[in-house]
Amino acid sequence: MAVVIYFSHGGETLINGEIKKLDIGNTAKLAQLIGKQLGMPTFPILAAIPYPDSYDQTLQRSKLDAEKLVAIQPIAVDLRAERDIYIGFPVWWGTLPGAVDSRRRFLAKSSTHFVHMRGADLAIASKSFMSSSPMQRLRKNYRCAGHE
Ligand SMILES: Cc1cc2nc3c(=O)[nH]c(=O)nc-3n(C[C@H](O)[C@H](O)[C@H](O)COP(=O)(O)O)c2cc1C
Repeated sequence: MAVVIYFSHGGETLINGEIKKLDIGNTAKLAQLIGKQLGMPTFPILAAIPYPDSYDQTLQRSKLDAEKLVAIQPIAVDLRAERDIYIGFPVWWGTLPGAVDSRRRFLAKSSTHFVHMRGADLAIASKSFMSSSPMQRLRKNYRCAGHE
């Protein structure tokens, strides 16, 4: 069976240069759509210490977190038992958020990536994920931008 897992900040975000508050994050929205369309269960990746709603505070903390493995809460599914994962995450600072760059935690035989961003390079983020899971096969990666 395949499952959808995703990390999404939600809260305040930057839309057309202005800070706006989202009820549900862009990646979360996509994850739910994909899960519904493909009939797959969907699980969030949550930082052990949640990121604040505030956009500015999230920028500050994520800068401190950069290059670190950010501790996450247990995911409610055994990913080692899954053949395929659909994994969604936003680009942060040109690459993966620290909560997603969690070596060995996202083991599955293959993965499909959906990556939300303003204008970053999908290949860099996708490759970075694969380098943390070297045995995994990348099925396909999708770049998503915009806030509708
Ligand atoms: C801390 C932080 C860093 C970001 N860095 C980038 C970036 O380097 N390149 C980019 O295109 N977008 C960047 N973004 C924008 C997010 O990728 C974009 O807003 C995405 O839609 C957020 O998804 P979410 O609502 O699921 O969290 C950044 C956003 C945050 C909060």
